[in-house]
Amino acid sequence: MRKKIIAGNWKMNKTPSEAAELAKLLKSKINAERADVVFCVPAIDIMPVGEIIKGSGIALGAQNMHFEESGAYTGETSVKMLKDAQVEYVILGHSERREYFGETSDDVNKKIKKALEHGIIPIMCCGETLAQRETGVTMEHVRIQVKAGFKGLVAEDAQKVVIAYEPIWAIGTGKTATSAQAQEVCAGIRKTIEELYGAETAQKIRIQYGGSVNGKNAAELFAMADIDGALVGGASLKEEFADIVSAAE
Ligand code: 13P
Repeated sequence: MRKKIIAGNWKMNKTPSEAAELAKLLKSKINAERADVVFCVPAIDIMPVGEIIKGSGIALGAQNMHFEESGAYTGETSVKMLKDAQVEYVILGHSERREYFGETSDDVNKKIKKALEHGIIPIMCCGETLAQRETGVTMEHVRIQVKAGFKGLVAEDAQKVVIAYEPIWAIGTGKTATSAQAQEVCAGIRKTIEELYGAETAQKIRIQYGGSVNGKNAAELFAMADIDGALVGGASLKEEFADIVSAAE
């Protein structure tokens, strides 16, 4: 049985002091025993939130990192910085980074390798636009993104990666994919991993759904065979996040 993983992507929200308040509130509501729970916070909030969730079973996550270890990359955060700050997970290749910051699948692949090299678990995002869904190329597009992200990874590393399927049209829109739509693509992703690495790896890898997940729709999504949790945006900034975690137990 794969352990469910519920990650909150706080995106560019919460100042350090606000983040500390939110982390305290959520910590008091969440039981992180039966599912893995991760707070993926803005880089500047990593230290204060890390202090608050220490020992709670909730893991600390980042939302991006550079693929080089150090150097002249103004404004970037390195894997060693994350590691030293006790970060355990990093979201890589979120559609907002691909769309607004020009991140390519090649960049994502380099970042995944660098994170794994240092023992940080990548949460690799993939997903189609509304136009791609409407023209029937969803699975083809997602398969290409997954293959590019995993390029050059051996099975032992591949199985550690968490894949987040996030249809772009469902992000921040209140328009969730139906559980059947989400299941169909997550099953296709698992099949892609099976083609690349075999059935054992495919059965181990965890695949999340993301896109307008909330306290009401989470349980139905989590009941699907290939959905192993959620990557949550808006609802991760509210007490409601605790309900999503409960739905996974
Ligand atoms: P929402 O839950 O706000 O739709 O965001 C999803 C997302 O992009 C998580 O990474």
